[in-house]
Amino acid sequence: MFIVVGVTGGIAAYKTVQLVRLLVLEGHDVHVIPTEDALRFVGLTTWEAISRNPVTTSVHEDVSEVRHVALGRKADLIVVAPATANTLASMAAGLADDLLGTTLLATSAPVVVAPAMHTEMWRHPATVANIQTLRSRGVHVVGPADGPLTGGDSGPGRMSEPEEIAASALALASAEGDLAGLVVAVSTGGTREPIDPVRYVGNRSSGRQGAEIALAAAARGAHVRLVAAHVDDGVLATASLHPRIELSRIATAGELGSAMREAAAEADVVVMVAAVADYRVADVAPEKLRKEDGPLTTLQLVENEDILAGLVATRRRGQTIVGFAAETAANEEELLDRARRKRRRKGVDLLVVNEVGWDKGFEASDNHVAVIDARDEVAAEASGTKREVADAVWDAVLAARGSSA
Ligand code: CTP
Repeated sequence: MFIVVGVTGGIAAYKTVQLVRLLVLEGHDVHVIPTEDALRFVGLTTWEAISRNPVTTSVHEDVSEVRHVALGRKADLIVVAPATANTLASMAAGLADDLLGTTLLATSAPVVVAPAMHTEMWRHPATVANIQTLRSRGVHVVGPADGPLTGGDSGPGRMSEPEEIAASALALASAEGDLAGLVVAVSTGGTREPIDPVRYVGNRSSGRQGAEIALAAAARGAHVRLVAAHVDDGVLATASLHPRIELSRIATAGELGSAMREAAAEADVVVMVAAVADYRVADVAPEKLRKEDGPLTTLQLVENEDILAGLVATRRRGQTIVGFAAETAANEEELLDRARRKRRRKGVDLLVVNEVGWDKGFEASDNHVAVIDARDEVAAEASGTKREVADAVWDAVLAARGSSA
């Protein structure tokens, strides 16, 4: 999304640095418009570095491009944080005396404000009336929170935390996406099968692609139930804050099976991205296994259920089921051949296949996939960031649902 973040002159501007960072990490194209006053608190260089885009404050720069109109038109969402009492008054009056004011008048995108001021100013009838006016025009107000303020006093007026502002703003902007109204169940990460209380059998899945599948769906308006096995550090940071993602954590294939059956019972689409252990240890030792108790050179394994095949066998009417396969292959033909056979074996509507190897596919932020459809054709191929791949998978899901409707 193209997001404009307006920053006005309050000390809470330092928290907006984190807000911009969160939005950028989520994959959005963020353009910061600070007011002259805001730059007294946080400098232009910080905004440029954190947003990865050039920053201007004046309507007199880039005049040929009519920058305010361009930004206002391009924006999918505008967030003003912190919004001072003065800014709220200007917005309510429709003043256009700087780049932010003109941009706000030139947009039809949803606008979110996060007020920050002292309690007395927040409660003043002028501010109360301005907030009412803005709300009546559809402006969405996040906060302010009740808590310690800069002067050492306490009360309502503190800007909401960046995570809360980001979550509300993104939810508002994506409520109308092409997946709005759909409930989707997504699994991610790698299961771990215990050997004893300290050891396990696991795999290299980072959980990144599944987290992006969930975030992309939520960004396009779906309600997401994300079941996560083991994932790398930080992979679920954004997903865990999204208002339309319900996150549950599990460890083993057995737990994943129960959680996915429950999630799938309500879902229109099921996407199994998790790397599921095919086997578990037959007799898990209740105590740590020690060498002094005798050498352990073999593990007795028993087969785990095939969760995906089970979900296909008990699917709801109209439910679309997507499997993932990470395969090693000598060439593209062999890769697609394996994928087609796996799709048929599992009975899924779509199978997303990517090639993996010792140094391919796992920790990388980029991915390359092919999507095999129910006619065994390559419905889509996608290369790029895991978010871009996730969006391509959702496009293929929508196409498959459209053609079976
Ligand atoms: N899967 C599952 N339950 C299992 C194993 C896999 O639900 N016990 C799902 C995965 O989440 C994935 C798809 O099935 O969506 C393919 O996983 P993969 O491990 O490639 O399939 P396997 O049937 O285990 O085939 P292979 O013998 O190639 O490992």
